[in-house]
Amino acid sequence: MKKVFLAASISVFVAGVALAHSGATGIVKERMMAMKEIAAATKSIAKLDWANVDTARVKLKRSALVLNKHASEMGELFPEGSIQGPSEAIPAIWERPEEFQKIANLLETASAQLAQMSDDASSKSEIQPVFLQIAGTCKGCHQEFRQKK
Ligand code: HEC
Repeated sequence: MKKVFLAASISVFVAGVALAHSGATGIVKERMMAMKEIAAATKSIAKLDWANVDTARVKLKRSALVLNKHASEMGELFPEGSIQGPSEAIPAIWERPEEFQKIANLLETASAQLAQMSDDASSKSEIQPVFLQIAGTCKGCHQEFRQKK
């Protein structure tokens, strides 16, 4: 009896996770989409094929600009108290707004630098220091301001 109950509650839990994002609305949904684009752009930079430099530069610029655009909008994407529904954002964002904004600014600056480098970069190692800075902002911000559900 106990086992059956446990199995039932696990399947409810799994369904809940699967539905989580489709339950997002408004600004929460908007920023989840923005974060997904951020993630896709970051992945695309990590996977650039530098054997084909021209294509790599075009792709680098495009992805860097996606990161830059969303980084510059970070403030608007997180209006105070917007943690409703499936949001993984936590109130610390509005308790320590300078720290949150500082990380967003770092992403904005580093991605602008990367966009600029895309004019003449020719290898992964060339962009790696800036890329690592960018990856550091994801990790840093998520550690402080996001609670995975
Ligand atoms: C300034 C803070 C900040 C930065 C920088 C940041 N994130 Fe996030 N990210 C968040 C917060 C907060 C959430 C949770 C949003 C929510 O659920 O409402 C999140 C959520 C996400 C999600 C989950 C989206 C979803 O559908 O639930 C992904 C993926 C993600 N971020 C990727 C990245 C990547 C990749 C980077 C770095 C290039 C990055 N983020 C940089 C704060 C940040």
